[in-house]
Amino acid sequence: MSDFHRSAPARSYARVALSIGIAALATQLAGCGKKAAVDEELAAALIQPVARIELAAAPAVAAGARKGEDIYASVCGACHDSGAAGAPKAGDKAAWAPRLAQGFDGLVKSAAAGKNAMPPRGGAADLTDGELKRVVAFLANKAGAGFKAPD
Ligand code: HEC
Repeated sequence: MSDFHRSAPARSYARVALSIGIAALATQLAGCGKKAAVDEELAAALIQPVARIELAAAPAVAAGARKGEDIYASVCGACHDSGAAGAPKAGDKAAWAPRLAQGFDGLVKSAAAGKNAMPPRGGAADLTDGELKRVVAFLANKAGAGFKAPD
């Protein structure tokens, strides 16, 4: 049997190994000459196609199917984890109580339209309505609301 029949994972490991090899080689070359910056660019350029393939192979969750928890971590947490820009912190019951009082639909409306320092949809324009509801429920429930997120 020839090497062409190796399994897909084996091939992608081989690509990673190859890219590491290229990077190591380019780094060594950089060490010899005075043109380190150029060689770093060369290394980056050589690795790029491999990196692109690896990214494309990563399992992507289809838009519309993302979980509230994951959306929170990748989008909303930027402000709501720390309270940046005056955002009510996740889980801060006192900060959320007056907001929860407007009910789930009111909160979803604010999150969709944006409010003061919060851009519409928290800046993630590609969030579907279902995803936005899921993540609003996730965030509000951390502060004690009992909202049922849509599936
Ligand atoms: C750039 C920072 C930022 C990001 C990112 C962000 N928020 Fe906010 N959020 C805020 C701020 C600031 C407020 C308070 C707005 C106000 O009342 O002045 C807020 C308030 C809210 C409120 C309460 C609204 C109300 O009517 O009281 C909800 C719900 C909310 N955010 C949900 C989200 C969700 C869901 C995400 C992610 C999809 C998100 N936010 C991302 C800054 C942010």
